[in-house]
Formats: sequence, C-alpha cells, structure tokens
Amino acid sequence: MIKLGTVFSGIEAIEQALERLNINYELEFACDNGDINIDINYEKEMKKIRKMKSIKEKKEYVDNLYFTNTRKHNFVKDAYLANYSVKDNNFFYDVKLLDGTDFKNKVDLFVGGSPCQSFSIAGARGGFEDARGTLFYDFARLVKEIQPRMFIYENVYGVLTHDKGNTWKVMQNIFGELGYYYKWAILNAKDYGIPQSRRRLYVVGFKNKKDGEKFEFPSPQKLKYTMQDFLVENNKEGNLVNKNGKLIITEKVGEEPEEKYYLSEKLKKYVLCPGTKNFMHHDAEIDLPIARALLSTQGNSHRASVNNYVTTNGKIRALTVRETYRLMGFPDSFKIVVSKAQALKQSGNSIVVDVLIAILKNVEFIGGKNGKN
Ligand SMILES: C[S@@+](CC[C@H](N)C(=O)[O-])C[C@H]1O[C@@H](n2cnc3c(N)ncnc32)[C@H](O)[C@@H]1O
Repeated sequence: MIKLGTVFSGIEAIEQALERLNINYELEFACDNGDINIDINYEKEMKKIRKMKSIKEKKEYVDNLYFTNTRKHNFVKDAYLANYSVKDNNFFYDVKLLDGTDFKNKVDLFVGGSPCQSFSIAGARGGFEDARGTLFYDFARLVKEIQPRMFIYENVYGVLTHDKGNTWKVMQNIFGELGYYYKWAILNAKDYGIPQSRRRLYVVGFKNKKDGEKFEFPSPQKLKYTMQDFLVENNKEGNLVNKNGKLIITEKVGEEPEEKYYLSEKLKKYVLCPGTKNFMHHDAEIDLPIARALLSTQGNSHRASVNNYVTTNGKIRALTVRETYRLMGFPDSFKIVVSKAQALKQSGNSIVVDVLIAILKNVEFIGGKNGKN
C-alpha cells in the first residue's frame, strides 16, 4: 500500500497513474486552492495554525479563512471530489498553510508541480530560507517536514532558463539542502505514448540513497498512436467555415459563425494547401505548437488546452474538452463536472499521466523494476 500526498493537486494525474498501474494506494492529503488568492498575513496565520492541536482544527480554520476572504469558488475541488474517493477532510486549500509535521513519516510518495516563479534574492546565497514566499519554497518545506520516501516535482521546462538560469540554480541548491538523493530530466509526453509534444522538467528525489541509485529515468519509447487515434469520432463541433472570404472557426456547426478565431494568411495557406491539410495529426513532432505559433501571428496568444486545433475530414476545429483529457492520459470515465473553460484550464494544467506511469515503472519500492515490468 503506497501512502500518497499531493500539493498543487489539480485533477491529480498521479492518482490516475497509480490506478492504471493497479497499485494500491491511500491518499493522506491533497491540496489545491483552485488558483484563488486571498489577502492575509501568511506568516501570522501559519504561526497560529502550528499551535492548533488537531489536523481537523487546522483544516477548518484554513477553509474558513478562504470562506471569509473570498467569494470565489474552488472548481478544482469540485473536479477532485467528483473523481476521487478522497473525503472532504483530506482536501486542503493552501500549500502555504499546510503543516507538514502532521504527516511526518506518513507518506511514501509526495507529488507536486508548483507554478514557475522568480526568486528575488539578489546578493543572497539562494538557498532554502532565501526562497520564502514562493510556492516552490512551500513544496521544499513540506518535503523537509513530511520526510516522504520519494517525491516527484514537475514544472515547465522553461524553468531551466527562467530568470537567466537563476530560478533553476536556486531550486537545485534547495533540493541539495533537503538531503535527498535526486535526479532530474526533461521528458516529452510524445516519447511516453501520448501524441502531444509537451516537455516538462521532472525532479525525482529519494530519502534513501539506495532507492535513488536504483532509479533511472525511463528511456523514450516509439510512439504507437497518432493524434487522430485520440479524437472523438464524427465530431461536428468547431468546424472551419468560410464567411465572406474569411476563414472562421465556429464553436458549433450550423450556428451563425461566432467571429472568434480568424486564421492568419499564413495558416490559411497551410490549411488549404493540398497535401498539408492534415497538418497536425500524423506526427506528434508537428502538432500543437505549430498551430499555436501560426495562430499567435494573429495576436491570439496560447492558453493551455484552449487554442489547440486539429483537422478532421479536412476541416479545422478546436479540440473538444474530452479530447484534451485524452491527450493528458485521462480515461473517458473521468467525470467532467465543471464548465468548459474550467475543464480546459484544469486539463491544461495537468501532468501527462503516461509520463508518470513511465517514471513509476522504474521505482522498485513501488513495484517497478527499471522498465522490466
Ligand atoms: C500547474 S498546476 C498543477 C496541476 C497538477 N500537477 C495536475 O496534475 O493537475 C498548479 C496548481 O496549483 C494550484 N495552486 C496555486 N496556488 C496554490 C496554493 N497556494 N495552494 C495550493 N494550490 C495552489 C492551482 O490551482 C493549480 O491547480
């Protein structure tokens, strides 16, 4: 039985990975504030929380802080409770107010991917204490407090060059200070079974050096599927129509085209050029980023999972919500209980399940044997 703890939990790719691997696990805690910021004195509040006696009391206090300081609703929690057997008392709001000492030595696997933030530490050494106030600091603090057997940390690969390399330098200093044996790699989802080009940084840390020495990042695998294999069949949403000589993508076929997405001259040529019509779905190497780059020439900047286009039957359309989940490795049994905009945001934020599966398969104490199973 693997004891799991997660922060920045989102739609919890790691639970999908464990379920698909048939690994028994128990969730100690999940934590996601639904991207809602509240204006409180964190240091003062955390001091109060640390003095409280039970986890229940602490959780109720933080829930109440959110309740009294914002009217915004936590849609991540809705998605979470609809899909996982977690009880409300295991779902925490804010990583900055989570007391890891309550879970000390109770977690085997600790997983989280904080948003990428700069550390403003000019002149400082750039270690653990200098990173205070960032969400990464809280991830590291929780590793220190909880002492999990293993952690997986995920972030965008741009973190390596972010702030002229300073962000990654500080992160490495901090990972080093934790006393964990860690390895890192940039893995692309298209190398682990999913036809989506999505590169991410993965840091895998082990409390025992022996566990760590046995671990290798998984080698790239040949892609068996194309994007086309993941599309909803006979989908009629979001077709491309020609209105007064302008190409427009509509949300629903048959409806008066909403002038939502205009295609640039460049993309128009690309789409209409015989032979290159199906420009995205046969090769993961040339999928989503091309459409994004072309569309961005129109000032239509990319938002995760939103401005992604595919062609079916020679027509260009946006991915459906379900397709974005499939392309993150989520089965169709995953219940989508939030609005389209929220659902797209949540799938766009997720870790690709199949990459986590490939990583876990190489962790011996979780049941993997360096890719041999
Ligand atoms: C990049 S996403 C990671 C999603 C997750 N890795 C998954 O598999 O779906 C970042 C998440 O952190 C959450 N978040 C941001 N600030 C937070 C905070 N202070 N406490 C807890 N969660 C937070 C956001 O709501 C969002 O779901």
